[in-house]
Amino acid sequence: IENKDINPDFSVNFEQYLTEEQKTQLSAGLSEKLYSYWDEEISLGFGFNQKQKDLVREMLLHSKEHNLRQSKRLRGSFVNYGYRLGGERPGKGIWQAAMAVELVHTALLMLDDFMDRDEIRRGGPTSHKFFEKEHKADEHYGEGMAVMTGDVVLTLGYQLLLKAKFDSTRIFMALNQLLRGVIKTAYGQAYDVTLEAEKNWTEDDVISLHRSKTGVYTYENPLLIGAILAGIDNPKALQVLSDYSMDGGVAFQLQDDILGVFGNEEDTGKSADSDLRQGKCTLLILKVLELGSQAQKTAVEKIWGKMDKATRSDLDEAKKAIIDSGSLAYSRKLAKELAAKAAKTAGQLRSFDLNSEAIDYIQGIAEYMVERDV
Ligand code: IPE
Ligand code: MG
Ligand code: MG
Repeated sequence: IENKDINPDFSVNFEQYLTEEQKTQLSAGLSEKLYSYWDEEISLGFGFNQKQKDLVREMLLHSKEHNLRQSKRLRGSFVNYGYRLGGERPGKGIWQAAMAVELVHTALLMLDDFMDRDEIRRGGPTSHKFFEKEHKADEHYGEGMAVMTGDVVLTLGYQLLLKAKFDSTRIFMALNQLLRGVIKTAYGQAYDVTLEAEKNWTEDDVISLHRSKTGVYTYENPLLIGAILAGIDNPKALQVLSDYSMDGGVAFQLQDDILGVFGNEEDTGKSADSDLRQGKCTLLILKVLELGSQAQKTAVEKIWGKMDKATRSDLDEAKKAIIDSGSLAYSRKLAKELAAKAAKTAGQLRSFDLNSEAIDYIQGIAEYMVERDV
């Protein structure tokens, strides 16, 4: 892909929270920097013979293309705003940290899509499908390649943070945070697939899952990395960020799960059937099974986790049951309440000597995330 094909980082919906200056800085920022980063990594390459070199190049070119697909860049922007809390303007180092977090995110998506048997991500093929098709090989080959490419990109992310332009003590602390965050996320992901496999779960399971998978990973980790790099070391302020992240993250994931069933595939860049086919454990499913009529429960049970056996009309019937039973409304209400609670929690940041514009953003984004369509 060419530089000119890169989409701006922040979709239209984000813009209400950004001033003109911030928009320019952020949208001109991450993707272009990532583009150059990848070119450097590609030119570095690896291999003892030509065939090896070609394979490594293919892995890196795929990773570059995947990483530069249209995205919210939410985690990268949280790194930036965590840092901005400390009052400094973004410099080279914080861009590198934001890029590192976006690399880690791409890596986790590659692995997640394999685990979730998904075929599209951000409007393009998922990594296991890409390698399977490119090499006209079987599923197992594609999956093995997705795992290895994910491992490469994950480690490239760690390495980039390690090399970011900050003093070594701050890097050490930020990297420690990143590693711990990814460890916890992996525990969360393991919990996710295990709930799916056991098909025996409660609301507490779903919320605990969302806290570990999304609260820790999408919210807390990038915010704390940014704050640590800004030198914010007041444990009370950091605790407010963590508290905000748990509610904000659960709210985000509830909306994500709503979009996973009712979203427009062109906007979200992912399938609106695969959560149902795959048998993902979401509050939407739990509540329809609890609140629904017998017919509504049957409609959901008929397709949930049934992969390719689920037909179009049966999927639509199940979606209707999720709406008619009141399950969708239940998830929406809880998401909104948690987002409002998160925004209120973030308000406590005002009692510390922190940048108020960054606090505005952090509060605004919590509430935006439950209204979004992308
Ligand atoms: C992905 O979670 C979480 C991580 C990459 C850690 P999900 O499986 O719930 O998200 P989508 O629906 O594939 O984006
Ligand atoms: Mg997934
Ligand atoms: Mg998943």
